[in-house]
Amino acid sequence: MRAYYYDNLPGDQRLPHDYIPSRPASDETLNSIDVKYWQIPVEGYEPKIDAVAKERHYKNRDTINVSKAGMGDIYEDKIKTFFEEHMHEDEEIRYILDGSGFFDVRETPSDAWIRLAVEPGDLLVIPAGIYHRFTLDEKNYIKALRLFQDEPKWIPHNRSEKTDANPYRLTYLQAIGVGA
Ligand SMILES: [Fe+2]
Repeated sequence: MRAYYYDNLPGDQRLPHDYIPSRPASDETLNSIDVKYWQIPVEGYEPKIDAVAKERHYKNRDTINVSKAGMGDIYEDKIKTFFEEHMHEDEEIRYILDGSGFFDVRETPSDAWIRLAVEPGDLLVIPAGIYHRFTLDEKNYIKALRLFQDEPKWIPHNRSEKTDANPYRLTYLQAIGVGA
């Protein structure tokens, strides 16, 4: 996984949006906003993912497959929806099996976007309460495992004054040492 600051230039969300020269985001920076990731080779991944799932109490999982070829006409609208800035009241855990894409996470308090370019073998944990968005890249294909504890609370809450006051948002800010 490569992590770098998003350039904020207009243009297709699927483009890399990497500054020239690139401005990498360090592991310390990701740590400071509580974004976690591991690399687990896809070949023979199952026992290793099982071990992580057990340790973090993820009892359930499913597989998602997003592609332009598979979705047809609704694809362009769908990826615009994924790209709306939102938060969840639960962690978002993804293990990339095939294809690639970009998770953008907000650095707080700077409010800068950090782009996480994910590839097969990346296991990413985005904490509850962090503002983020997702897009496929120009390959228009990703296949990923979603891991979750019981019933996932994956309803996207689009960023607003209301989400700024959401208890999960406030708990997140406290956890990273920002805000009240
Ligand atoms: Fe999300």
